[in-house]
Amino acid sequence: MEKITEVTRTLEFTSGQSVLELSYLVAAILFVLGLRMLSHPDTARKGNFWAAFGMILAIITTIVFYKDDQGNGIKNLGLIFGALLIGSVAGWIIARKIKMTAMPQLVSFFNGTGGAAAALISLREFPNIDPSLLSNHGMFNGQVLVILLGLFIGSVSFTGSMIAYGKLDDKIRDIRASFLKYVNIILLIIVIGFFVYIMSRGPVSPDKLMPVIYLLFTISLIYGVLFVMPIGGADMPVVISLLNSFTGIAAAMGGFLYHNDAMLLGGILVGSAGIILTILMCKAMNRSLLNVIIGTFGGGGVSVDREIGTIKEISVSDAAVLLSYTQRVVIVPGYGLAVAQAQHVCNDMVKLLEEKGVEVKFAIHPVAGRMPGHMNVLLAEAEVPYEKLVELDDINPELPKTDVVIIIGANDVVNPAAEDDPTSPIYGMPIIRAHTAKNVIVMKRGMGKGYAAIENLLFYADNTRMLFGNAKDTLQNLVAEIKSL
Ligand code: TAP
Repeated sequence: MEKITEVTRTLEFTSGQSVLELSYLVAAILFVLGLRMLSHPDTARKGNFWAAFGMILAIITTIVFYKDDQGNGIKNLGLIFGALLIGSVAGWIIARKIKMTAMPQLVSFFNGTGGAAAALISLREFPNIDPSLLSNHGMFNGQVLVILLGLFIGSVSFTGSMIAYGKLDDKIRDIRASFLKYVNIILLIIVIGFFVYIMSRGPVSPDKLMPVIYLLFTISLIYGVLFVMPIGGADMPVVISLLNSFTGIAAAMGGFLYHNDAMLLGGILVGSAGIILTILMCKAMNRSLLNVIIGTFGGGGVSVDREIGTIKEISVSDAAVLLSYTQRVVIVPGYGLAVAQAQHVCNDMVKLLEEKGVEVKFAIHPVAGRMPGHMNVLLAEAEVPYEKLVELDDINPELPKTDVVIIIGANDVVNPAAEDDPTSPIYGMPIIRAHTAKNVIVMKRGMGKGYAAIENLLFYADNTRMLFGNAKDTLQNLVAEIKSL
């Protein structure tokens, strides 16, 4: 009888284990499928849904089917479901309320909480490791290393992301003291010293090492603050993407620790996607990651004392006439379009022009705005058909044949200094060559500079006319004027 009960228990255990493994496989497929779908605006929403579904599946099956080596299931279910409920409701409310322009800081905040979770796993699990692992041979012990890496990377990601959130939300100012670079290098050396010290203790109870672990935790938190503090506020999207990948790596460490394939794979996917995105953003700005982290961007370029010509303005009614009786128009959207939230009225203007037989396209620069895909998301929100969005390399050859290029709240991404001024900080960055079009209309509020804080000689060119004002107001006036023609 006892044997039958034992066999039944073993069968239950193995079938539960199989369901768990199968569900992790399905979750992994959904993560990859979701990521694939995120690469196109038409499928991005569904991609997000499927990846989230994969995560929910992995969480539920883990709670229901997980058993440890002794056959015990997960305890503290009340606490787990309570935390899940609070987190889901808070996340749902915040995500619904957030404005599109505040998206980078939201991503940063959420990412920070992921880093904190990974660091807490390491803090929680360190006292449970086998003391023999902390022997001299422990230098090569994967489990201890995984816990320490999870603690360090997760903590850096937590405080770094929170500082990034504060900066993007204008709650924290940049501290650009160059000595911080050296403080950071010293802190890194101290962290490595802690790793070596902890991993090479003789067989000792992990509890005894907890004060050292708390010290390492504190230093890692401080390092995260100091790592992000000197980086320029506008460089934050690149840093956020880097911190995102840190959180992914820290979560993958948790996956190693718990032998949990879903956690491991999810972490690796986030880690590698974050690194790829970071590299792509740096490439599109023609800067190295090191330059983003320790360099400065902006200033320099055209000297203010130099004679740079005069600007010519155009009235709303003249602009309406020029646009209505022409054949080809290309719109270059930029950060100002997002700030003004003028995407809907911009689409209204496009529809009106098309009714008049004008062909209208959008020229999309990969780093226009302040986050990857910013313009794509903004225009998708206004239901601009995706086929109208043309990427930099494809639109540039068409511009000399274009009658009017309208630049709406863009500056750096159309600055010819990137091509013809080797002293310019943006020299070498690929640009939308608006200056090659027959006519250029620039919509912005005044002569304010862009993110790189440099002059733009395009505004003084013979074929350029400035249409000053907040982009939304100007476009509304333009729409009314075009309607009246
Ligand atoms: P910017 O060069 O930043 O120029 C935006 C322009 O919009 C400003 O010159 C401003 O001029 C105008 N503006 C602001 N509010 C406006 C409003 N309400 N109505 C009308 N105009 C308004 O933008 P961009 O051309 O999109 O370039 C993006 C820059 O950000 C690049 O240098 C890029 O490297 C950097 N960056 C991008 C990313 C990503 S991933 N997209 C990440 C980090 C950095 P006025 O003040 O005169 O109006």
